[in-house]
Amino acid sequence: MSLAPVELTAAESARVLRAVLAPLVAQGAIVRRPRMTAWAERRQSDRESRRLLTALRHRHDDAPLVLRLGPRRLVLVTDPGDVERLLVGSPEPFTPASNEKRGALAHFQPQGLLISAPSDRRLRRPLNERALDTPHAVHEDAPSHVRAVVRAAGELERRVRDTGSLDAGTFMAAWWRLALDVTFGAAARDDDRLVAVLSALRRDANWSWLRPRRPWLRAELERRVARHVARAPSTSLAGRARDADPDQAPGQVPHWLFAFDAAGATTLRALAVASAREDVRSRLVDELPVDELAAEELAGDEDGGAAALPYGRACLLEAVRLWPTTFAILRDSLRPTDWGGTTLPAGTGFVVVSAFFHRDGERLPFADDFVPEAWLDGRASSDWGLVPFSGGPAGCPGRNLVLLVASHLLTRLARLGLDVDRGRYLARDPLPCTVDHLGLRFTAPRAGAGRP
Ligand code: HEM
Repeated sequence: MSLAPVELTAAESARVLRAVLAPLVAQGAIVRRPRMTAWAERRQSDRESRRLLTALRHRHDDAPLVLRLGPRRLVLVTDPGDVERLLVGSPEPFTPASNEKRGALAHFQPQGLLISAPSDRRLRRPLNERALDTPHAVHEDAPSHVRAVVRAAGELERRVRDTGSLDAGTFMAAWWRLALDVTFGAAARDDDRLVAVLSALRRDANWSWLRPRRPWLRAELERRVARHVARAPSTSLAGRARDADPDQAPGQVPHWLFAFDAAGATTLRALAVASAREDVRSRLVDELPVDELAAEELAGDEDGGAAALPYGRACLLEAVRLWPTTFAILRDSLRPTDWGGTTLPAGTGFVVVSAFFHRDGERLPFADDFVPEAWLDGRASSDWGLVPFSGGPAGCPGRNLVLLVASHLLTRLARLGLDVDRGRYLARDPLPCTVDHLGLRFTAPRAGAGRP
């Protein structure tokens, strides 16, 4: 049962703003600002945020914390039961289309599902679920997606062979080609301009309502997306959406591309941990079916799909639990809601700070440890405090697709036996609270170093 929210004092509010919200906004909620993510890692900003929220939770006996920002009232929840209530109660009465998100995402995806009104959502959610094949661990078009992974992995392997190293910039450039390939088909993988336009609009989106719109840039994004959607093979995400609903499909694509960025960051971090821990790396390598590798393209299992790679998926889930890419899940109430006997007015904002819940040492015995097994045995999946992909009816419909694509790339890259520059911080638990994925760098092992 929900407890009545407590109003934070002016001093408490100032501390929450400085230690919890300011670092998240500074790093960029929609596209990361590299200098700020490096700063956040140096300061281990998530550690301070977590300490403060834990102290406030104690002081206020698990009650939700009310923060006033001018006319805006934000309720920070600190109890997993409240997270469950918000996510199960989405999209109504708790809409994902919060005021801040509408301001931000309208810069590049005004028709995106996440900021859709309830009437549009009724059309768009099923379309997203159809294109992304939400319920299935292995997407119906997985053979095509895995071929895209094989192309990206080959590119990265050649790069490592030629230069002896792999930095985050090189990885992310290949990752974007993979995202375009999966979304639109292989013919689109070199559309660098599309990625550049999207990135520029995402930089605007970091400022939400504060940055004026650039309609001419958005028009260019929409033109490019529409062209690719029209030509996309039916086994690509966009082709599948177009075949189901040609009118709505193009408006959903910018969110998918944007969200692939988070999947790249998570793959890099999981690769970093695997590179620092031989037991993790060798388990990943062992999981990839030999026939899939031997053919260097999808060999597939008996019913023609790609392998599900449960351990690879669990490593990715663990990486995104430890270092969440959605800093905060936001909801706005559409009507007055009762919390422990107090009525909160319609339009109240609710905030779930991911890093706080995901590393809650008072609830989770493995809070700061790398324990993929927790995702394999159900401990993590059944916990409403562990929501890297959100949850409930408005949870991420791309979760399974991300885990499929990223696990296939991760296991292939694990085979390279790379070393990671900051390996000593990642080799043992507890793991650092903040890891700047953009600063990660890998090197190929010296000849004869003993790895396959
Ligand atoms: C590591 C990668 C990803 C993570 C951690 C992630 C996480 C999330 C989270 C937390 C939400 C809920 C956001 C909110 O309520 O404010 C969400 C929503 C969504 N995600 Fe993902 N996502 C990822 C990748 C993707 C990809 C690659 C796609 C599509 C190809 C995708 C499609 C969507 C869509 C369409 C929504 C909106 C759902 C709705 O409003 O009903 N996501 N995602």
